[in-house]
Amino acid sequence: MLLNVQPGFNVIVPSYAFVTTASAFARSGAELRFADIDPVSLCIDPDSVGALIDSSTRAIVPVHYGGMAADIDRLTQLIEVHGDSNIVEDNAHGLFGSHGDSPLGSFGRFSTLSFHETKNFSCGEGGALVINEKRDVARAHTLYDKGTNRAAFLDGRVDRYTWIEQGSSFGMSDLLAAFLLGQIEQRTGVMGRRQKLFTRYHKQLSPLEAGLGIEVPPISETHRSAYHTFYVLVSGEGRRDAVLQELNESGIGAPFHYQPLHRSEGAQPWVKRKFDCPISDSVSNRIIRLPFFDALTDSEFNRVAETLTGALRHTA
Ligand SMILES: Cc1ncc(COP(=O)(O)O)c(C=O)c1O
Repeated sequence: MLLNVQPGFNVIVPSYAFVTTASAFARSGAELRFADIDPVSLCIDPDSVGALIDSSTRAIVPVHYGGMAADIDRLTQLIEVHGDSNIVEDNAHGLFGSHGDSPLGSFGRFSTLSFHETKNFSCGEGGALVINEKRDVARAHTLYDKGTNRAAFLDGRVDRYTWIEQGSSFGMSDLLAAFLLGQIEQRTGVMGRRQKLFTRYHKQLSPLEAGLGIEVPPISETHRSAYHTFYVLVSGEGRRDAVLQELNESGIGAPFHYQPLHRSEGAQPWVKRKFDCPISDSVSNRIIRLPFFDALTDSEFNRVAETLTGALRHTA
């Protein structure tokens, strides 16, 4: 809404992303263009974006998959060439991660956060819009306040408030915000525990990559992950589902992840061409996310690692 996206504009999102990464823009009538992802970072591939961007592109929406930075530098270069487009970071996975010294979510004109129960910091359902440029603040208040100039009234700039444009009731309830704030105040401890678990999985599984036919997430020297998830990519067609079945039969909740959006039925009214996103297709069929929560005990960790290793050996 703040970008005035409307029919005639297009928005570029990764095919390998959550539904709302795209549907938030479809509701304004934008054409959706689906970019493929990079096979190592699993984030939007700047080359694929480069082939889709044009003068009607209003937004490019990188997801910092799993909490690791997308290629912000190359996306920023693309935006500089196409002056009317903007980066809108879907930072649902990336809160408290960084790209170099700067926090994820601070690069786009806007970034979005999710506090859904699956996220590192949660209040059940909820989210936030981060506004990184002063020029957007006043209108954001209006949209947030049901399309009224209530913010100006509260600041004493007008003597009553009234309806001035379309908006909605976007505020979070105080009760949910209080529940969330308690976690944010403990972010150092939360992030430390998540980093420890990620490192433990990585140490355990990275030496086995070749032997078990898997890939584990990359570790960056320069960017700090938000440690949202730990996944393995299983090699070979159809093998992933057999491994998942074995894990699930042992009582281990290990989910797969996104279904490619360029193939989804819901996207079709908003697309005008065919998209080829082979990496999104392949990752979607090969990914397994491992149990990843603060309270995972040592014995649970060991059971996950042993069951996974066994299942990978059986299906090799
Ligand atoms: C990349 C990404 N964006 C957005 C969301 C959804 O956020 P919400 O349900 O809070 O809109 C998710 C997952 O739930 C996600 O993985």
